[in-house]
Amino acid sequence: MLHVLDHPLAAHVITHLRDKTTKPATFRTLCYQISLLLAVEATRTLPTVEKAIETPLEALTGRVLPAEPLVVVPILRAGLGMVQPFLDIFPDVSVGYIGLERDHTTAIARSYYCKLPPLAGRRVLLVDPMLATGGSAVKAIDVIRAQGGADVTLVSIVSSPEGVAEVVAHYPKLPIFTAALDRELNARKYILPGLGDFGDRLYGT
Ligand code: PRP
Ligand code: URA
Repeated sequence: MLHVLDHPLAAHVITHLRDKTTKPATFRTLCYQISLLLAVEATRTLPTVEKAIETPLEALTGRVLPAEPLVVVPILRAGLGMVQPFLDIFPDVSVGYIGLERDHTTAIARSYYCKLPPLAGRRVLLVDPMLATGGSAVKAIDVIRAQGGADVTLVSIVSSPEGVAEVVAHYPKLPIFTAALDRELNARKYILPGLGDFGDRLYGT
């Protein structure tokens, strides 16, 4: 299930992220902004529970988020740039970390770190800005599922058709939220038109 963000502000931010003259400080701000829009969109189906309160004028039964907090899991390192908006808008969030790094020649992701909170019964938002071959996302989802995370949503900023197909082939029902669905991968498995290496542009490396 692919959802592509459709908002003028998203289009504006994505264009500036793609621009090769955008410097890391601005890139980080734009990353925050697009991740905030994605955070709102990707959590549209979060359950709520009733809560009885009193306004200054009368009693009311409103709705609030349930007690079990959301879990946000960035794929290191570029996914770190997407975490702050989730922390800013949700009252309770747990953060887990999965470290994966693509080999420069094969583009196959190697796992180097994993620290996850309890996942059973909680909505897990896996955040990674680039969905290229889909290898990193599938590896991360495999780990999350193996540790009890049954309700997983993938949130990316730029996706390739190949990456989406790879995730769908392994997890047909898993929701994928992205800000842009690009044309294709190049021979080095970078997304075209894309925005280059997200981690390098985020951290100035
Ligand atoms: C990038 C990106 C994704 C991955 C996507 O990370 O942030 O995690 O590539 O590619 P895939 O869909 O083909 O697996 P990279 O491995 O470059 O590591 P970094 O975040 O540390 O820069
Ligand atoms: N990782 C990136 O940062 N960019 C791509 O285009 C592909 C993988």
